[in-house]
Amino acid sequence: MWQDAPLFPESASTISDSVDQLYAFLVVVSLFFAFGIATVVVFFAVRYRRRQGVIPARIHGSVQLEVVWSLIPLGLSLVMFFWGAKLYFATLDPPPGAMDVYVTGKQWMWKVQHPTGQREINSLHVPVNRPVRLTMTSEDVIHDFYVPAFRTKRDVVPGRYTIAWFEATKVGEYHLFCAEYCGTKHSEMIGSITVMEQHDYERWLTGVAAGETPQEAGARLFESMRCNTCHSGQDGARGPTLTGAFGKPVQLRDGRVVPFDEDYTRESILNPGAAVVAGFDSIMPTYEGQLSEDQLMQLLAYVKSLGAEGGDQ
Ligand code: CUA
Repeated sequence: MWQDAPLFPESASTISDSVDQLYAFLVVVSLFFAFGIATVVVFFAVRYRRRQGVIPARIHGSVQLEVVWSLIPLGLSLVMFFWGAKLYFATLDPPPGAMDVYVTGKQWMWKVQHPTGQREINSLHVPVNRPVRLTMTSEDVIHDFYVPAFRTKRDVVPGRYTIAWFEATKVGEYHLFCAEYCGTKHSEMIGSITVMEQHDYERWLTGVAAGETPQEAGARLFESMRCNTCHSGQDGARGPTLTGAFGKPVQLRDGRVVPFDEDYTRESILNPGAAVVAGFDSIMPTYEGQLSEDQLMQLLAYVKSLGAEGGDQ
C-alpha cells in the first residue's frame, strides 16, 4: 500500500505494511475529528451569533451526551493503544532462526559485523526473506538505527544493548539513517542496506575477507582473559557454568531472578558484583576499561553460542 504516494518510503519488510496501516488509521481518525470539530465550530458561530431580540434557551448539561463523547474517544484510544502495542512488541521479538548481525554506532559511522565474520562500514548486505536480528550498541553517544523502507527504528545506546530485527521482502538498496542527533556530522551518519537473493548474498560473503567470526574471537578472548579458569563448567568451579545458560532465567544470590540476556552478560563482565548467581561468591574482578565494544560483542556472541549448545534456545 502507498507505494505510489511520494510521501511514503518504499515498503520492503514483513512489518512495513502493518506499520502503514496503523499510521493510516491514526491519520484518518485525526482528520475526521479535526474537520468535524472545525465544521461544527463554524456552524455554531453562524447559527448562534448574537441577534437583536433573540435569547437562546439555556442548556443545563446532558448525561447522555457526556457519556457518548467520553466513550467514543475512549474506545478509539484503546484501539490505538492495543494496535500500537501489538505492533511494537512484534518489532521487538525476532522470530527464531534469525541471522545475528552486530551493529556498533560511533561518531559518525555505522560498523557492522556478520555472523560469519565479515565487517562493513556504513553498509549492510542481507539476504532477502530471512529475518535479521541486530544487536546494537554505541561507543560514544546515543544514535538511532533507522531504515525507513523497513519501518525499523531503534535507539543505539552506549553502555547497553538494544535489539531490533527486520525481514526484507524485496531485493534492492535502501537508506540507512541515524535518527538521533549525535553531533556535528549527524547528518552524514548514513549508509545503505543492500538486500540480495540468498545465493547472491553467499557469493558476496565469499568475496569479503571474513577473518574470525564474532563467536571464534569471543572464544579466544574467553581463554586469553582467563575467563575459563573460573567458568570452567566443571563441578566445584568458582564461577557458574555458561553452557546452556544464555536465554534462561538466573537465580541470584540476593533472591532476584533475572533473564540471562545481552545486558546481563554485559553487566556481569563490567560490574560482576551487581548480580551474582546464587551459590557463588562475588570474587570476579571487573573488566571495565579492558575490553573494547567490539570485544564485548565478541564475548557476548561466544556466551550466546554456549547457551544454544546446552538447551532448546
Ligand atoms: Cu548518530 Cu545521529
